[in-house]
Amino acid sequence: MATAGGGDCDRYRLDSRAWRFAVHRSEQDDIGYAGFEVANAAALTETTERLRSLGYQVTEESDDLKSDRGVLGLISATDPSGVRIEIYYGATELFEVPFVSPAGVSSFLTGDQGCGHYVLATPDLEKSMAFYVDGLGMELSDIIDWDLGPGGKFKLHFFHCNRRHHTLALIPVPALPPKILHHFMLETGSLDDVGRAMDRMERDSRIAITFGRHTNDHMYSFYGDTPSGFAVEFGCSPRDVDRSWSVVRYDRISMWGHKFVSAE
Ligand SMILES: [Fe+2]
Repeated sequence: MATAGGGDCDRYRLDSRAWRFAVHRSEQDDIGYAGFEVANAAALTETTERLRSLGYQVTEESDDLKSDRGVLGLISATDPSGVRIEIYYGATELFEVPFVSPAGVSSFLTGDQGCGHYVLATPDLEKSMAFYVDGLGMELSDIIDWDLGPGGKFKLHFFHCNRRHHTLALIPVPALPPKILHHFMLETGSLDDVGRAMDRMERDSRIAITFGRHTNDHMYSFYGDTPSGFAVEFGCSPRDVDRSWSVVRYDRISMWGHKFVSAE
């Protein structure tokens, strides 16, 4: 369900919110910005003060941008990978126009877990962790040592800010690759939603990584290629983090499946 956004972009819904994703026409062809929601004006002020006290530059955004995004309060900062981070409260709800997936997806899991997760490359893990943990208040969930053989070894760091196992994961790299965004993830309400999406992506030869189950969040998922060159993970039924959560490490990214499909 695409709706025209302010300016030159298309916006997409996943739930009762007016929009969750925006696709802008741009030379960048990468993540343009990521939005994080806080509860209210006091929480936005607190976040602004905390970021500034740590030395980050924070912009209190204009009424025009607030109205374009459809929020009551909006600040922005830049993360150490160079990604624009927007923090807001008071998003627009559209209960009067029920969300109906044109592809027949039964539901997307959002609510107090936000709209999914995204995975970024970072040239400086320490600086990125300072920004997301000390600045934004996220917590480390776990670490996976990802051995891609000739493709290299990567120490993936996963972070949560609610019950979702990770809202953000970071891939430390010596220098930023052409795409900062590795993939973003959407969680559906049922396994049938994932299977049907897999059929659609297979029909278009867009499966990048086969169906599998991750070791850390226990998500059942597959990955598809987007026209922008980064991937989209589509999954369901992960486990949540809880109060008894402790940080662990893993040697494998998946219990089974998740095999790379080589491009022809
Ligand atoms: Fe993922």
